[in-house]
Amino acid sequence: MVTRTLVRGGQSHVVTFDGDTTLLDVVRKGLRARATARGCSNGLCGTCRVLVDGVLVNACTVMWSDVRDGATIETAEDLDREPAARRVLAAFERERPTRCRLCVAGLATTAVDLARRGLARDADAIDETLATAACMCTGRGSLRRALLK
Ligand code: FES
Ligand code: FES
Repeated sequence: MVTRTLVRGGQSHVVTFDGDTTLLDVVRKGLRARATARGCSNGLCGTCRVLVDGVLVNACTVMWSDVRDGATIETAEDLDREPAARRVLAAFERERPTRCRLCVAGLATTAVDLARRGLARDADAIDETLATAACMCTGRGSLRRALLK
């Protein structure tokens, strides 16, 4: 078993899991951040995206043993009220109001990551980040359009 202290929302959480547990399971079960969703489990859909020490990752591809002790974790619950996320989620909602919404947590996290790096609406950066993210109901195009709006 591997024990780490994680910081989320300014609070410390001591969490213990098997080292080969994915960060996605740690976030959902250990931090109870249930908006972070499981999609493909293979690093291709981005529904599980979180920020680890400010770096965007697909949490299903990160092993718990590889997470730094003391790491700061930001999830969609922490980020979806940031202006960049609100703008993109509203654009996505206007286009796809009746779909399953499994992808929206990853989309919010992606929007905040792009904005913090000064790359909001940068088409090349959006294409790069969408290489490992997709809306499974509608494909990448709807996410791309929302991010560019
Ligand atoms: S569930 Fe992690 S990328 Fe799809
Ligand atoms: S709306 Fe269903 S995965 Fe995006």
